[in-house]
Amino acid sequence: MTTSRRTVITAGAAAGLAAAAAGATPADANSGGRAVREHFGTLKDGTRVDRWTIENGRTRLKVLSYGGIVQTLEIPDRHGHRANVSLGFADLDSYVAHSPYFGALIGRYGNRIARGTFTLNGHKYRLPVNDGPNSLHGGDKGFDKHVWSVKPFHKGADVGLTLRRVSPDGEMGYPGTLTVRVDYTLTAAGDFRIDYEATTDKPTVVNLTNHTYFNLAGEGTGTVYDHRLRIAASRYTPVDKTLIPTGELAKVAGTPFDFRRAKEIGRDIREAHPQVLYAQGYDHNFVLDKGVTHRPENIVTVTEPGSGRVMKIATTEPGVQFYSGNFLTGTFAGTSGHVYRQSDGFCLETQHFPDSPNHPDFPSTVLRPGQTYRSSTVHSFSTR
Ligand code: BGC
Repeated sequence: MTTSRRTVITAGAAAGLAAAAAGATPADANSGGRAVREHFGTLKDGTRVDRWTIENGRTRLKVLSYGGIVQTLEIPDRHGHRANVSLGFADLDSYVAHSPYFGALIGRYGNRIARGTFTLNGHKYRLPVNDGPNSLHGGDKGFDKHVWSVKPFHKGADVGLTLRRVSPDGEMGYPGTLTVRVDYTLTAAGDFRIDYEATTDKPTVVNLTNHTYFNLAGEGTGTVYDHRLRIAASRYTPVDKTLIPTGELAKVAGTPFDFRRAKEIGRDIREAHPQVLYAQGYDHNFVLDKGVTHRPENIVTVTEPGSGRVMKIATTEPGVQFYSGNFLTGTFAGTSGHVYRQSDGFCLETQHFPDSPNHPDFPSTVLRPGQTYRSSTVHSFSTR
């Protein structure tokens, strides 16, 4: 990994750009944070991959142009000590070789589509099958494996990155040219907000999300079993053995899936419930009680007792995939050099429900020409 010229853009633009031109690293801007670009690596085909660092409040975020990957997310503990709470790798080659979607932007369709087929306007579409009999996370070369164009922005006291890419008609079997924009914003309070937008020139299906694995005690520190999780969902979508929803919206009451009151992630994860056995832990879509909303509404609180770190998630989406890192099997080491094992991180992927194109009674994921797909998710950080 080489670090070449760094581009620095600060909210107090003039001072920051002058410092950058002089080859210096400027001090933090008085308000609005800053954005720094560096060379992260080069793909086999010669494409350059950048890493952007943005910082605001007490939060620092590192994002790769490859896959829009959140490489590190640093937030303070109750004593003000910052740690990286996001699983990942230190180098590009590891992301390309074996990343289980660490930190990545997922598209065109987050989670699974059964047998890689769906019918839209009477036409049957076939997608590459990359997870047993099903298509997972947009196929074998999803949005997570493309290089995005990245531009920093400032809006008031917020600092952010705008990521763009155009997914051609027929890419990974999906119809329509999809023009996608994703904004990663750090607010002055240090909250991390993601806004997705997409338009199409033919009817298609879209379900975008981000696949960050969190460990609020710090990346590489062991399991997340003692994190306390609350999810505002009275129902979830049970799955078959291949993790495709059966179509039922089952009550969480009386099952390991009841997170309506905060409980430890590890408390019921070894219960011999058939759904827990299918997924080797939690890997399920929770049906959020609030449904689809125009503005992000609170759905999740996660608390890590040791560090005191608290993460709240608000979203416009009707579902969230709670995945307890079941398929981390000790086969590689992460950013800080520690080997990741089962449940060393968890994902909370805000989304429409898996396999919606084959379930007409689920909230629709169809996007038509003239419409704009919009989705927003906010991660807020505090301590207790
Ligand atoms: C899925 C898991 C999958 C993981 C990929 C999650 O979103 O629900 O089944 O294994 O992504 O690492």
